[in-house]
Amino acid sequence: PEKFASLSDTLTKLKKERNAVILGHVYQRPEIQEVADYVGDSLQLAQQAAKTDADVIVFCGVHFMAESAAILSPDKIVLLPEENAGCPMADMVTAEALRKRKAEIPGVQVVAYVNSSADVKAECDICCTSSNALKVVQSLPQDRPILFIPDKNLGHWVAQQTGRKDIILWEGYCNTHDRLTAADIDKAKAEHPEAEVIVHPECQPEVVAKADFVASTTGLINYAVNSPKDSFIIGTEEGVLHPLRKKAPQKNYYLATRQLICPNMKATSLEKVVWSLQEMRPRITVDPVIREKALASLERMLAIV
Ligand code: 13P
Ligand code: SF4
Repeated sequence: PEKFASLSDTLTKLKKERNAVILGHVYQRPEIQEVADYVGDSLQLAQQAAKTDADVIVFCGVHFMAESAAILSPDKIVLLPEENAGCPMADMVTAEALRKRKAEIPGVQVVAYVNSSADVKAECDICCTSSNALKVVQSLPQDRPILFIPDKNLGHWVAQQTGRKDIILWEGYCNTHDRLTAADIDKAKAEHPEAEVIVHPECQPEVVAKADFVASTTGLINYAVNSPKDSFIIGTEEGVLHPLRKKAPQKNYYLATRQLICPNMKATSLEKVVWSLQEMRPRITVDPVIREKALASLERMLAIV
C-alpha cells in the first residue's frame, strides 16, 4: 500500500505532463482500478476511448482493447503497459481462417465479438460486446445467416435469447470463464443456498442455464448492487469483486470457483503503468487500411448502443 501510494503520486504528475487518461477494465488488479480515470466493461471503455480529449490513452486491459482504442482514436497515442497482455480467445480466430469460412456460407453476415484482432474486425460486418450482443444481433436482417465469432459460449447464449436458428458458431472460448463448470455452481449453491447466481455469458451453456442472471461485467455489478438480495455467487473474473465491495460492502460475494482469474488481465502492474507513461511505450498502432475497415464494424456497433 505504501509503495502503491508513492507510485500513484508519480502517476498523477506524469498524467498531467502527458495529458493522459488511464482506462482500466474491471478485471484489472485493485490498485490499477484505483488509479484509473475510468473503470468499466469492454463497451464502456471503447466509448471512453472514442470520446476522450486526452493526447494519450493508457489502456490497462488486454491487446484487443488497446487496438480498438487506436482504431477509434487514431490521432491519440495508445499505450498498453504490458505488451504481452493478450486474450487467448481473440487468438482463436485469424483473418485468413475467417475469410475461408465466409466463402463457405453464401450471404453470411459476420458478427465479431470485440475480443478479436483488428484484422478480424476488418473482415466482419458488425462488432458486439457482451453487453450489446443481443441488440446487435436483433438489428440484423433475418434473411441471411449469421456467423458469430469467436466466442461459442456467447454465441450460444445470443442464439438462445434471440431465438434465431441461423447463428453459426466459431470454436472459440475464453479459457478463464470456460473453467467454471456446472458442478462448481451446484457446489456453491449447496454452500450458499440463499445466494443468487450471476454469471457472464462467456461461461459454458450448462453454467449459464443454472444462473439467475446473465450479463456483461458492468451489468453483473449493477445488478448485484441494486438487487434487494444480499448474497451472490459470482461467475466471472474475480476483478469484479473490487467494485462490488466498494459499491455495496455490506453484501456477500462468493466466487463460484477460485479458478476465475485471467492471467492476462492481471499482468499489468502499477510499476508497468508508471514506466509506460515515462517511456511512452509500448505503443499500439493499426495499419491504416485495416483500421478503416475495422472502424466501420465498430462504428456500426456504437451507433446501436
Ligand atoms: P465485458 O467487459 O464485455 O464484460 O467482457 C469481459 C471480458 O472477458 C473482457 O475480456
Ligand atoms: Fe480474454 Fe477471457 Fe481474459 Fe477476457 S477474461 S481477456 S475474454 S481470456
